[in-house]
Amino acid sequence: MRRIGVLTGGGDCPGLNPVLRGIVRKAILEKYEVVGFLRGWAGIIEGDYKILDRSSVSGILHMGGTILNTSRTNPYKKVEDVKKVIKNFKSLELEALIAIGGDDTLGVAQRLFREEHLPTVAIPKTIDNDLNGTDCTFGFDTAVNIAMEAIDRLHTTAASHNRVMVVELMGRNAGWIALQAGIAGGADVIIIPEVEVTVDEVCTIIKRRHKSGRNFSIVAVAEGAKFGKDLLTRGKELDQFGHEKLGGIGDFLAREIEKRTGFETRITVLGHLQRGGSPTAFDRVLGTRFGVKAVELVESKEFGKMVSLRGTQVVSVDLSEALSKLRTADLGLYEMSKVFFG
Ligand code: F6P
Repeated sequence: MRRIGVLTGGGDCPGLNPVLRGIVRKAILEKYEVVGFLRGWAGIIEGDYKILDRSSVSGILHMGGTILNTSRTNPYKKVEDVKKVIKNFKSLELEALIAIGGDDTLGVAQRLFREEHLPTVAIPKTIDNDLNGTDCTFGFDTAVNIAMEAIDRLHTTAASHNRVMVVELMGRNAGWIALQAGIAGGADVIIIPEVEVTVDEVCTIIKRRHKSGRNFSIVAVAEGAKFGKDLLTRGKELDQFGHEKLGGIGDFLAREIEKRTGFETRITVLGHLQRGGSPTAFDRVLGTRFGVKAVELVESKEFGKMVSLRGTQVVSVDLSEALSKLRTADLGLYEMSKVFFG
């Protein structure tokens, strides 16, 4: 029987299970058996996998997380790990490997395709929405809705206590979540990594707002936001792909706002709540379409490609396009959001 391998790598994200269901259901129709590697690249390095049949993907469409589990393991950290990936790929007689992940996971898929001629197909995943080559990634819509609801809830408690509420949202290099959730939730200041602002500028907006009769403010800040020289406590811990563990920006900002404006300020760090739980209808549908399309690419031997959403159509693009640069937040949208600052 023909076989396809699949893995989910990097941070989890709502919509991964719909993707896996889409892959398995389409693969079965096309007479493929699906080998699901566990814990991202660790699974194929260690030969740790399970066969995904129809019953393994039954009842998972609405579930967050990934039934394959995930990790930030990078096979390119050790030469022997790349060799193990190739050996296990061959010994399982796979025709292709579908890698579902963000830029790190897909970067590995691209190197394996280019340097080792391993037939890989990629599916873009990240709540950060920062992958190039696709209009959006699944998981982002769910994260934005969770963040929006949090901002809605913060409004009532902020107003009751006459407080400033700082909400720290995920977004390492791209501020898509803070921007979209900030607009949808009516935040009074939005701060994203793409646009440097100073703490004083933020305080000026808040003071102006309070002077005009408002007695509370909501500040949405992306975890990767920078404050020029006003910086900051960053974690020094790095993952296998060399990324810093972020966190702390909201706390810093809240303290500074309180100190410089005199307004009582509180901080909420939404953190991994943005990645957990049930995917929205949009993410379930997009994930399903991506999964089915990936099997079609395997069928037509279009390797080194990534499935992508272009307008309303699911198409394929070269992995090199997806990885050529980061897809940062739309600065036109950010400019528009400033209409509602203060
Ligand atoms: O890349 C997605 C993301 O959620 C980032 O927004 C965040 O910085 C990071 O993952 C957190 O990673 P971890 O789950 O390893 O804490």
